Amino acid sequence: MLGRVGSHPVQCDYFDAGACASCTWMGRAYADQVADKQRHVEQVLAPALEGRAPVAWLPPATGPEEGFRNKAKMVVAGTVDAPTLGILGADGRGVDLRHCGLHEPGLHDALPVLAEHVVRARLAPYDVGSRRGELKHLLVTRSPDGELMVRWVLRSTEPEARLRKHLGWLLERLPVAVASINVQPEHKAVLEGEREIVLTEQSTLTMRLDVGEGLRLHLRPQSFFQTNTTVATALYEQARAWVSETEPASVWDLYSGVGGFALALAGPHRSVTGVEIAPEAVASAQLSAAEAGLDRARFVAADATAWALEQPPATHPDLVVVNPPRRGIGPALTGWLESSGVRDVLYSSCNATSLARDLAALPSYDVEAARLLDMFPQTTHHEVLVRLRRR
Ligand SMILES: C[S@@+](CC[C@H](N)C(=O)[O-])C[C@H]1O[C@@H](n2cnc3c(N)ncnc32)[C@H](O)[C@@H]1O
Repeated sequence: MLGRVGSHPVQCDYFDAGACASCTWMGRAYADQVADKQRHVEQVLAPALEGRAPVAWLPPATGPEEGFRNKAKMVVAGTVDAPTLGILGADGRGVDLRHCGLHEPGLHDALPVLAEHVVRARLAPYDVGSRRGELKHLLVTRSPDGELMVRWVLRSTEPEARLRKHLGWLLERLPVAVASINVQPEHKAVLEGEREIVLTEQSTLTMRLDVGEGLRLHLRPQSFFQTNTTVATALYEQARAWVSETEPASVWDLYSGVGGFALALAGPHRSVTGVEIAPEAVASAQLSAAEAGLDRARFVAADATAWALEQPPATHPDLVVVNPPRRGIGPALTGWLESSGVRDVLYSSCNATSLARDLAALPSYDVEAARLLDMFPQTTHHEVLVRLRRR
């Protein structure tokens, strides 16, 4: 529910009404937001970079200011006849945000149909207070080709038969490529559980990105994908551009997810190894590599740090990419990088504070270049890619 005229800031009815405060920078001119993020990231990194060669900051990479989220994570509440898709308010009641303007238009159009399907299939929303009901979350991802992956996070499999019965109705109305049930039986504030029941023949959503000669990333349920497809494309392209300047023969992609960096950097003259803890993401990456005929790309399901520390020095690569969760890579992995012979590192971070901590623990490297990528307009969140080279 966003509206914008010319260069005016984005406006949101939910924000204005106090229904949702997730976009803390809603109403600010976009150019100011980007300038502020750039300033913030530079300031946070400055102490860690003192005494090193100056950093060449590239201009920030940006995409659309609205309609950019490729994934909707909706808490389902309300009643079976009037479900809300959105968040829980301070009073524990559902706040409906199905018209959130950050979602890609295809997701925006799909949510009301999915809400109608909840009513048809009699999927009783889970009520946190009474611990009754079944449907906790609706997780929907949209591919650049317009296909959807729809996942119902349920307390149990009780509604499975009804979901299957009414799936045809949904498939007639929406371009759903993958539909699955995720079972999350515990009374905990976690998004999803471990068990997944795929209801469609197809079990992966294909994310086709305009990177290099074209990158097709398979995405299975329970796999991370960058939130903003346009800016993710810029992120992988930037990594390719930097890597093409040094032409490493071997690359490790640590925290590889479905293999975005690894597969963007792979080639006949380069071996790439992706290491990722989520088995479903590893399976997705293996499928994408096989489909692209990249026989020098391999993916391992493991803890990135433990795996790196176990590898014999003779196998250490020329370049390492790290793209960890918000906590950063931590002392064990920075310690390993410091003492390894690895020449080049690309570090993609969604948290400048943990990035600064990790950079301070990597004194043997200079940060040659860096770039802010605005994956999350209207919020203070940022993504930054830095290029390190051993001195
Ligand atoms: C920010 S995502 C990056 C994914 C990927 N590089 C991309 O571009 O989509 C971080 C990834 O780290 C994975 N992860 C979390 N803890 C991990 C660990 N200890 N070892 C390896 N991977 C981990 C998560 O499952 C997630 O896929």
